[in-house]
Amino acid sequence: MKFSVKQGAITGQKTACLVLGIFEGQGNKDLSGQVDQITDGAYMRAVHSGEFSARQGQTLLLHCPAESPAERILCVGLGKESRFTLALLRRTGSELASFLAARHITRFTLSLASMVVKKTGLVGSVQSLTEGILLADYRYDRYKSDDPAQGPVLLERATLLVASRGELGAVKGAIDAAEAICRGVCFARDLVNAPGNLKSPEYLARQAVSMAEKNRIRARLLDRRELERQGFGALLGVAQGSERPPYLIVLEYQGGGSTQKPVALVGKGVVFDAGGISLKPAEKMDEMKMDMGGAAAVLGTMLAVAQLGLPLNLVAVIPAVENMPSGTAIRPGDILTSLSGKTIEVLNTDAEGRLILADVLTYVERFEPRVVIDLATLTGACIIALGNQAAAVLGNHDGLIRQLLKAGERSGERLWQLPLWADYAAQVKSDFADVKNTGGRPAGTITAAAFLQKFADDYTWAHLDIAGMAWQDSSKAGQPKGGTGFGVRILVEYLRRLNGEKK
Ligand code: BES
Ligand code: MN
Ligand code: ZN
Repeated sequence: MKFSVKQGAITGQKTACLVLGIFEGQGNKDLSGQVDQITDGAYMRAVHSGEFSARQGQTLLLHCPAESPAERILCVGLGKESRFTLALLRRTGSELASFLAARHITRFTLSLASMVVKKTGLVGSVQSLTEGILLADYRYDRYKSDDPAQGPVLLERATLLVASRGELGAVKGAIDAAEAICRGVCFARDLVNAPGNLKSPEYLARQAVSMAEKNRIRARLLDRRELERQGFGALLGVAQGSERPPYLIVLEYQGGGSTQKPVALVGKGVVFDAGGISLKPAEKMDEMKMDMGGAAAVLGTMLAVAQLGLPLNLVAVIPAVENMPSGTAIRPGDILTSLSGKTIEVLNTDAEGRLILADVLTYVERFEPRVVIDLATLTGACIIALGNQAAAVLGNHDGLIRQLLKAGERSGERLWQLPLWADYAAQVKSDFADVKNTGGRPAGTITAAAFLQKFADDYTWAHLDIAGMAWQDSSKAGQPKGGTGFGVRILVEYLRRLNGEKK
């Protein structure tokens, strides 16, 4: 869909639908008076009858009299102004977009003055609102035969109204930023939603390369032979059960000076996780096509950062593998020699994510990164701990974790810190090798991170376990079932601030 901005009053707008935010309670006399006038009294009748009180999430769609230039008015309840937040505004954007899409109203004009979070200001509010709209205006329907008469449609055009000319430039900037970010999120969603039969490690690698080529990002692929030559023993161990060979994807974005150290992003790219010989149960195994959600978030972030043109250097490293049971697969009890030289006893072949990440966390050292952040759908235990409301963040540097928590809050993608006290390392001590790949049932998310830490302790590092967030079981808050693209917004927010672009 396309966005445009124009200056003007809400009266006299020629549009299929004029969208207005209404706060609960008094203080909206001007706006409600205007709406009442345009709708020839229908608005106040709806208020007096109790049909509409502007409660958060409420909607009221009114058809205007024939002589009105606006065909309809959609009033969206925002709740109490004192309780209005960016998160609610983003959600309002998603809900109004899916409301309109369900009714095939594909063009609308929205008054921004009626939808501002006061303490954030216009620009931040517009970014959140636009994100909310764009993230609801997404479908993964390429495998569905056309049935245009049914279901919601995609939106075509939103015209955002500002009160004064002086606001036009800043609002356009905020829309551009939201569009770049959402392009990254939707790229990530497409990758996650792609079915496993199509999505081989090679497919993921080709998608990364073609995105990179279109966005002036340098791309390199390491194939199985090269990985063998360099000694990626842990990654290759996971890959050996699949017919489809692994790739290491390396992308470099150079927006900063050539001497500036890069931020390194690492994303778990298990294109399908059957569990290997430690086979998963059949129920919900289909969802394990999402086990490359970390890789998708990293690729989406690269796309967004390149489109925003952020002046910093970034390197993305993604191990792309498939975890399958077969006659060539690794067995419980096998011992692998990782790229670092440390040996790993594989007690459960379903704890494969940490194996491939171990080698990549060693590999990224060569870029002398200023920080390393990895994202992974790593543990079912994370869903037990936090459900589908937040991702876990752990690491070896409190400052970095604090910045990520803040970026999470601001972007609306929540993080929650779990401890990584040295004592947890005892749970991944092996009797026969340097380390083992499972730490038992207690604190599964933490012991997975304690395992990773053994390979990540020579630099500033944070780990995001996004197992509960990369996939949405059913459509909610105006956003569709399937891949969420979780992580892109946090990372972009973190990088924009790191850069001093935003205060
Ligand atoms: N990819 C899974 C974790 C996962 C589970 C992600 C559910 C999203 C939803 C991971 O590879 C895995 O299987 N982890 C095991 C580790 C265990 C064997 C130590 C788990 O969490 O059960
Ligand atoms: Mn697994
Ligand atoms: Zn996995």
